[in-house]
Amino acid sequence: MRIDIITLFPEMFEGPFGHSIVKRAKDKGIVEIFTHNLRDWSLDKHKRVDDYPYAGKGGMLMSPQPIADCIDQLKTEREYDEIFYTSPDGLLLEQKSLNQMIEYKNIIILCGHYKGIDERIREHYITKEFSIGNYVLSGGELAAMVLVDGIVRIIPGAIGDEMSALSDSFQDGLVAPPAYTRPKVFKGWEVPEILLSGDEKKIDQWKLEQAIERTRKRRPELLNE
Ligand code: ADE
Repeated sequence: MRIDIITLFPEMFEGPFGHSIVKRAKDKGIVEIFTHNLRDWSLDKHKRVDDYPYAGKGGMLMSPQPIADCIDQLKTEREYDEIFYTSPDGLLLEQKSLNQMIEYKNIIILCGHYKGIDERIREHYITKEFSIGNYVLSGGELAAMVLVDGIVRIIPGAIGDEMSALSDSFQDGLVAPPAYTRPKVFKGWEVPEILLSGDEKKIDQWKLEQAIERTRKRRPELLNE
């Protein structure tokens, strides 16, 4: 998969994409990630990328020209499955949608800033808008990182143990059951006996019951979906 990110702050991505699973997936050639500095596309002599809104009451908007030129150029180079825009009023990102996104070959993510972008870009260029939660961040970069991380980690081959992405919380509509590692007794607290029993059927049954119970207690709305 190829991911092109259009942003005012390309440096922000170096940390999150330079470590852990996303870095390994890049090293293995599972994903290619390119950042494009929107300022480089501005035709303004001061490289401005924002402007006052018509009839607006404060706050700036991202100008259409640099965004359109950058996307137009990328589109001459390859076809894109989706052009995402990060916005608090977009569709809430959920595991279900991430699971479908691993099929994409090429995507663009435009990171929003200021009071947003000129509506004509939303109408004519953007194919999907997404939000990572009902709160407002200072820019779309963190949301773009969340989207990329969420997609990349479930692309087959990105995680060593194939099973581990499948047993994540939300993959079966439930949160994950409690998990334990060594030692068997820590500060006097014991690992549940069933997990040491070696009886796989009973263990699976226990895990399912625990997952259902946890979901009921912590995230009951997931059971009604
Ligand atoms: N930009 C600002 N806030 C955001 C959010 N919650 N989700 C996605 N993009 C954003």
